[in-house]
Amino acid sequence: MGDPSLPWLHAVEWQWCFVIQRVTTPVTEVGMPRRPLTPRPTAHGLIEPVHPAVFDYLATLHRRHDEPVLLEMEREAETRGFPIVGRVVGAFLEVMALAVGARRVFELGSGYGYSAYWFSRAVGAGGTVICTDGKAEHARQARAYLERVGRWERIDFHVGWAQDVFRAVDGPFDVIYNDVDKGDYPEVWRLARERVCPGGLYIADNTLWYGRVVQDKVVDDVEPGWTEAIREHNRAIADDPDYDCFLNPIRDGVIVARRKV
Ligand SMILES: C[S@@+](CC[C@H](N)C(=O)[O-])C[C@H]1O[C@@H](n2cnc3c(N)ncnc32)[C@H](O)[C@@H]1O
Repeated sequence: MGDPSLPWLHAVEWQWCFVIQRVTTPVTEVGMPRRPLTPRPTAHGLIEPVHPAVFDYLATLHRRHDEPVLLEMEREAETRGFPIVGRVVGAFLEVMALAVGARRVFELGSGYGYSAYWFSRAVGAGGTVICTDGKAEHARQARAYLERVGRWERIDFHVGWAQDVFRAVDGPFDVIYNDVDKGDYPEVWRLARERVCPGGLYIADNTLWYGRVVQDKVVDDVEPGWTEAIREHNRAIADDPDYDCFLNPIRDGVIVARRKV
């Protein structure tokens, strides 16, 4: 850990969070009351890609992971309105990393360590999850949480601009996971595509942007340019001859791209 917090991130994060909270389901799904069988209308015509009842069902499949630290991290997200990936996507990230036998994961945009919690399970003892976030407080929180589950020694948390840290840390990586501000997605893909191991994965969250990517008239109610940036990112990955990809529509869309061997 080194650089001080980046105060500008705060405003962006909360603005984004507020919109997501207001127009979609809460960021965590565990323990949510049962929802009706028709999706709730959302402001701006945004879309929950997976039917809410189906999504709640998916969440129930991961209840065996309940443990105090995970539940606390999920409760914190709900209380603060902080956009963690949540239980269903967390379990998906773990399985993806396990499937490629990942030992070295690089995360751009770690928040307080929720997605890293799942990657830290997958990499096993001796594996490493390199985390990045602009806020020093997030690194402190991640440490407090992940120490309690005995996995902090698998974490190498850098406070600073994720793309700068990424350039500075030696690769390659078995998994590169992107969850930074969405306007930066095309840049992160350009940086990352050369540094995934052959057979390894590039994964990015929020690639459906709650349906904004399919709207005729671009809705950029979070930050100008973000919807177009996500579209550009997804198209570049889908057209890249060195990768095979699939955009999993769970929650807000998680794209997974495997580098060809
Ligand atoms: C969506 S949250 C990450 C959530 C986390 N991946 C999880 O699911 O638990 C995005 C985080 O990335 C940070 N962030 C966004 N853009 C960043 C950048 N370019 N460099 C460093 N941190 C960034 C924000 O401060 C925020 O904490």
